Amino acid sequence: MVTTTADKLAELREKLDKAREPGSPRAIERRRAAGRPSARQRIESLLDPGSFQEIGALAKSPGNADNPFGDGVVTGHGTVEGRPVAVFSHDQTVFGGSIGEAFGRKVVATMEHAAKVGCPMIGINDSGGARVQDAVTSLAWYAEMGPRHAQLVGVVPQISIMLGNCAGGAVYSPINTDVVVATAESHMFVTGPEVIRSVTGEDITLEELGGAYQQLKNGNVHHVAKDEAEAFAWVREYLSYMPSNAFEQPPVVNPGLEPEVTDSDLELDAIIPDADNSGYDMHDIIVRIFDDGAFHEMAAQTANNVITGFARIDGSPVGVVANQPMFLSGALDAEAADKATRFVRLCDVYSIPLVFLVDTPGFLPGAEQERIGVIRRGGRFLFSFVEATVPKVTVVIRKAYGGGYAVMGCKQLGADLNFAWPTARIAVMGAEGAVTLLRKREIEAAGDKGEELKAQLIKMYNEFIATPYVAAERGYIDGVIEPSSTRLELRKAFRLLRDKHVLEPQRKHKLMPV
Ligand code: HXC
Repeated sequence: MVTTTADKLAELREKLDKAREPGSPRAIERRRAAGRPSARQRIESLLDPGSFQEIGALAKSPGNADNPFGDGVVTGHGTVEGRPVAVFSHDQTVFGGSIGEAFGRKVVATMEHAAKVGCPMIGINDSGGARVQDAVTSLAWYAEMGPRHAQLVGVVPQISIMLGNCAGGAVYSPINTDVVVATAESHMFVTGPEVIRSVTGEDITLEELGGAYQQLKNGNVHHVAKDEAEAFAWVREYLSYMPSNAFEQPPVVNPGLEPEVTDSDLELDAIIPDADNSGYDMHDIIVRIFDDGAFHEMAAQTANNVITGFARIDGSPVGVVANQPMFLSGALDAEAADKATRFVRLCDVYSIPLVFLVDTPGFLPGAEQERIGVIRRGGRFLFSFVEATVPKVTVVIRKAYGGGYAVMGCKQLGADLNFAWPTARIAVMGAEGAVTLLRKREIEAAGDKGEELKAQLIKMYNEFIATPYVAAERGYIDGVIEPSSTRLELRKAFRLLRDKHVLEPQRKHKLMPV
C-alpha cells in the first residue's frame, strides 16, 4: 500500500524509472546489439545539452494496465542554439515504434504546441507505422496528424529525420514536412519486404525497396547523412537559416563583415575561363560572394546541374539557386527544375530572399526529358519564381540562353534587380547553334572557306549579339558589374529591397502545373 509521502515519492520514481526504458527486454537487446541509441538519447544528441523537457512520459494507451509507459514515442520541447523547438522521437522498442492512442495524442499535442508558440517541429522517425493490433484507433490517430501538418505548413519549419525502418504513417506523415533527412542505413516504404512477400509474393530487399539513396532519387528524401550524428548536425545548421516561424526573422549572424573589396573578391575577376566550353565550379563563386564562405547546401546529392542552398548576406539568410557548369554544362532538366522549385517555394514561405546565379545553356532537349514531363516540371519552376514575393536578385555569370534565361530569374519574370558580369552571354542560343541555324546556306556555299566563315560569324555573334550590353541597353539588366564587386553589390541590393512588400489579390489559391 502506498500511504506515506515517502511511499508516494518512491512510487513516482519507480514509474519514471520504468518510463525511461519501457520497451521489451528483447527489443532493447536488439537495439543495443545494433549499436542504436534510444529515442531519448537521440533527442539529447539533437538538442542543446540539458534543454529537453519531456511531456507525457507516463502516458499509456487504454485497455491494458500493463501497457508500456510513453506508448512508443518520446515527446517534448527544448532548444537548438538557444531557440525553442518541439520534438518527438519514436521508440522502436515499444511495438516497433508503431502508433497507438496515447502515442497519437502525444504527437498531436506536440504539433499543437509548436503551432501555439510558433517554433519548429522536428520528428525523429523510426516506426512501423499504424499499430496493427490497435486497428482503426491507430489509423485514426495517424489521420489526426494530417490537418496538423496542414496547420503548421508554411507557418513553422517542420523537419523529419528518418532513422531505422519506417513504414506506413511513419513515411506519409514526414513526406508532408518541409524537409526530410535520412541516414544512409535507414529505409522508407509503404510497408516492409516481409509483408510484401506475404501479400503480393514479390521478393525484394529492404535496400531495393526503400534504401535512403533510393528515396533520394525519388525526391522523397532531401539529404542523406552518413550517420545519426551527421543528420542531427545537418538539421541544427539548417535551422540556423530558418526563422522560428513565418512571422519572425531568421537570426542575423555577424553583419557588416568585410566592408571593402577583399583578396577573395578580387579572385572572382579571373574565375571565368576564356574558353566558352570550359567548366568551373560554381561553388568557388558561391563561397566568395556570401558571408564567411558559409553555405548550407540543400539536396546536394541530386540534380547536380543546379545548386540550391542557404548563405548569408550582411548576416541575414538568403536562398541561392545556381547553375553548375561542372554537370551537364549547367543545362536544366526535369529533376533540376523540381529541386529548384521546391527550394524557391521553401524560401518564399519563410520570407528568405532569393539570389539566382546564372550560367546555363538552357533546358536539356531530348526524348527522355519529354517523356518524364520536362515541360510541366520546367513550367512549375517558372511558376514558383513568379509566385515568390520575397526580394529576388539575379546575377548572370556567363550563359543565359533560351528558356534558361527566362526561368533563372530574368527581369520580366519578376526579379527585382538583375546584374550581369562582363563575361555574360545572354541570347536565345549559343553561337554555334545560332550560326548554323541562320547562316547554314552561306557557310555551305563558301565551300573550302566554310569553316573560316563560320568561325568569323561565331565571333561576331558573341561580340555583338550574345553580350550583356544589349540587355543593359534595353533595361533588362540593371547593371553590368565587376565580378569582384558582387559581394558588396548584393549587400547594397538587399538593403534596398529590405522593405519589399507585394500585395496579392484575394483568391483561394493558385494552380500550378502539378
Ligand atoms: C505493430 C509492429 C509494427 C506495426 C513492426 N512491429 N511494425 N507492431 N504494428 N505496424 C513490431 C514487430 O511485430 C516486432 O515486434 C517489432 O515491431 C520489430 O519489427 P520487425 O519486423 O522484427 O523489424 P524489422 O525487421 O526492422 O522490420 C521493420 C518493418 C516491419 C520493415 C517496419 O516491421 C514491417 O514491415 N512492419 C509493418 C509495416 C506496416 O505495414 N505498417 C502499417 C502500415 S499502414 P516483436 O514483438 O517481434 O519485437 C499505416 C497507415 C497509415 O501506417 C494511415 C495514415 C492515415
